[in-house]
Amino acid sequence: MKTILDTLSSLVAGAIARAFPGADIPSGVLPATRPEFGDAQWNGALAAAKTLRKPPRAVAEAVLKELPLDGLLEKADIAGPGFLNLTLSPAGLAAWLDELSRDPFHGVPQEGAGERYIIDYSSPNVAKPMHIAHIRSTVIGDALKRIHRALGREVLGDNHLGDWGTQFGILIMGYRRFLDPAALADSPVDELQRIYILSHAKADEDPAWKDACRAELVKLQQGDPDNTALWEKFIALSMEEFNRVYDRLGVSFEMTRGESYYRARDPEIASMLERKGLARESEGALVAFFDGDADPLPPCIIRKSDGGYNYAASDLATVFTRNEDFAPTAVLYVTDERQQLHFRQFFRLAEKAGNTTPLFHVWFGLMRLPEGLLSTRNGRAIKLEKLLDEAERRARELVDAASPSLPEEERAAIAKAVGIGAVKYADLSQNPQSAVSFTWEKALSMDGNAAPYLQYACARARSVASKHKERFPDEDAENATILLDAPQEKALALAIARIGEAVREAARLAKPSALAEAIYALAGAYSAFYQALPCLRAENAAVRTSRVRLCLASSRMLSFALGLLGIETPERI
Ligand code: ARG
Repeated sequence: MKTILDTLSSLVAGAIARAFPGADIPSGVLPATRPEFGDAQWNGALAAAKTLRKPPRAVAEAVLKELPLDGLLEKADIAGPGFLNLTLSPAGLAAWLDELSRDPFHGVPQEGAGERYIIDYSSPNVAKPMHIAHIRSTVIGDALKRIHRALGREVLGDNHLGDWGTQFGILIMGYRRFLDPAALADSPVDELQRIYILSHAKADEDPAWKDACRAELVKLQQGDPDNTALWEKFIALSMEEFNRVYDRLGVSFEMTRGESYYRARDPEIASMLERKGLARESEGALVAFFDGDADPLPPCIIRKSDGGYNYAASDLATVFTRNEDFAPTAVLYVTDERQQLHFRQFFRLAEKAGNTTPLFHVWFGLMRLPEGLLSTRNGRAIKLEKLLDEAERRARELVDAASPSLPEEERAAIAKAVGIGAVKYADLSQNPQSAVSFTWEKALSMDGNAAPYLQYACARARSVASKHKERFPDEDAENATILLDAPQEKALALAIARIGEAVREAARLAKPSALAEAIYALAGAYSAFYQALPCLRAENAAVRTSRVRLCLASSRMLSFALGLLGIETPERI
């Protein structure tokens, strides 16, 4: 179904066509910035005034005259230099909400139907603990996947593991010399990182060790069975740990094709770049230069002088393989801000080499975590799992205080949903491109912009509906006529309607925070409604069932929208 704003835009477009046949005038309608401006606004008259050589107010008046003020629109008036302020009719909005309750897509426009996206996210490196950038990539990438799917797109999530490269020669040598088997059994990825650091340091001071690392790498590259078995072991041990994190976060991937998947194509990519004149030998390395471009970039190494291929080569091989295997409409890459140059370089190279699939780098800044968490001390990273444990422990305290009478098992399950939800929401609700810091107080707030508050609002709205069923078994709230006479009722309906638009906006900007804002606004509108107006205690049955239906619509929309951020909504809190 169409969103409210799209429906209004079509009404305006029709009016424009009647008032100024053949003129090219923007018809887009925006939400009103203040309640006294009505519910929505059309600003197109200002832009059209120049082309039409008429004062903007006259343009707005002519369009207004052609605007049908029956169905959805109740009122339209001209303000300021020529803004058209639009007010929705309660009956029109109620009819729209009624349609929404039967829409399998929850009012989200299916504009992505027929398209296929690939989202490359999480992508940690083998034998290294996941660090905060990978966590953010995991949570943001997963939310974007759900958001694009809600818009009708097919989305393939691809975990592009860092599982190939020079580090494996160093790691193999470290494994043979420094391994502590008990530590490996206890905490495999920490131990792999420890032996890597030792071996790397030794290579720096001992040229013979460095040569041996090189030799082991070459053996691995040539398929030596012992080294291949070790390499596979490093991957398996790392994946076990990564999968534990993914399970806890409720994240999964359609495929996990690491860099190694594409390695056979590296030489082909290098010679193709050379043949097309996009890269040339320089001091023994193969280098791509961009200095002749209209918008020059620093050079980028494709193949090092020791013959090893770089990150850019592997990413180019990935682009062409994905195009062949999946013919995607677009590919999104979710990483931290430090990789911006890399993506600009290889996107440009890919284009010069003939790629036409739109590629987007979705980058985010680094988030500051509470002192000591996930920071590296003495080369050992403190695990994300600790952060999640702490989140669940603190959420458990909240739940125990709020609902001491619930059975133990249910409280544990709620604490999990609330704790994990709080960590995810603290990340997703921030503009990914601005620096933010995480605090437990903010993340676990029951009355601020935080997951527990939103989950609580959802559970409360749901419980009104179930209480209504108990107390008024003969009334059918599901199919009640929706009445939007009180301003809080209308505001709530509008906040519900906003979600579909926010999903689209979040996808367009690649910012789940745009959706989080609309969810927070919906929870606020629900609270205002619930505080101002009696639901179960409303005397008139028509009013009562209508309000209960609004509670149902609110809880369903909150649950659906939080689900798009990967956040669960427990029945009770
Ligand atoms: N493994 C990389 C890192 O940890 C991220 C990979 C992102 N995806 C890509 N196709 N380059 O920095």
